[in-house]
Amino acid sequence: MSRVFVTRNLPGNSLDQLRQAGLEVDVWPDFLAPPRQEMLERARGVAGLITMLEDRVDAELMDAAGPGLKVIAQYAVGLDNIDLEAARERGIVVTHTPGVLTDATADLAFALLTAAARRVVEGHDYVRRGQWKTWHPELLLGPELYGATVGVVGFGRIGQAFARRARGFDMEVLYTSRHRKPEAEAELNAKHVELNELIERSDFVSLHTPLTPETMQLMNAERLGRMKEGAILINTARGKVVDTAALLDALENGPLFAAGLDVTDPEPLPADHPLLDHPRVVVTPHIGSAGRQTRLKMAEMVTGDVQAVLSGQQPHFPAF
Ligand code: DGY
Repeated sequence: MSRVFVTRNLPGNSLDQLRQAGLEVDVWPDFLAPPRQEMLERARGVAGLITMLEDRVDAELMDAAGPGLKVIAQYAVGLDNIDLEAARERGIVVTHTPGVLTDATADLAFALLTAAARRVVEGHDYVRRGQWKTWHPELLLGPELYGATVGVVGFGRIGQAFARRARGFDMEVLYTSRHRKPEAEAELNAKHVELNELIERSDFVSLHTPLTPETMQLMNAERLGRMKEGAILINTARGKVVDTAALLDALENGPLFAAGLDVTDPEPLPADHPLLDHPRVVVTPHIGSAGRQTRLKMAEMVTGDVQAVLSGQQPHFPAF
């Protein structure tokens, strides 16, 4: 019987369907990731791996699994934790979950923008601490969303879905991406600009790029320093796209008013991290895709593709 190792439990009954299809399904039972040694041992002899974005899926893991490993199905759209070249060299199929989490992630990016601009978390803390004594014309003022200029860095599915929400607030949309997207430009009245222009003109900048060598620390001290006075940075992409120390400096001494982060570097962010001392930094624990239906659908996608590959068919969502 072919065995599949799943590095965290998945919502719904998709794993049962794998069992019904005749596969042995070994699920890591803990909330935290398997320690590396455990991961290498549990992978030994498997035909399939279902992995999460925190798992380091490299040549060592593939070799520990052995030549029977046919498919790695990543429970995420991002693949930066997987050595795709090593998988390709070994003839291992890699799949992921594109498309399905677009709207959930764009929703969260917009929620972070709204929360950061209108100081929702700071306001909640203010009330909870018993500081709310009166209504005052100058209490907790923040930038308006309506009519602002937003810069979308990375104009793939999620970036465009974010821009669609911004258009609903009558924002002007600027974007950068490797290639121009004429259809999306027309639909969203979006303007393609160079990154520096985007950074200098936008009231809000939202990051939607994958993590690659080119986007690693894309938002460095120089670029953060160029942002508009009072600007807000939103990151729902990957933590390492931003230089964390430079971000803190731009918030404390530079132009930034606030930041909304669903992803951080390091990740997880320790509770005593200085970013969390800043009153206008809103952090969520990488829950961009955590819509209930989205997570169920992601489970169906990874298990469906494991089943497809192990029964000799093409996967629906190949990574390459
Ligand atoms: C992804 O899919 O890459 C997200 O970051 C996880 O939801």
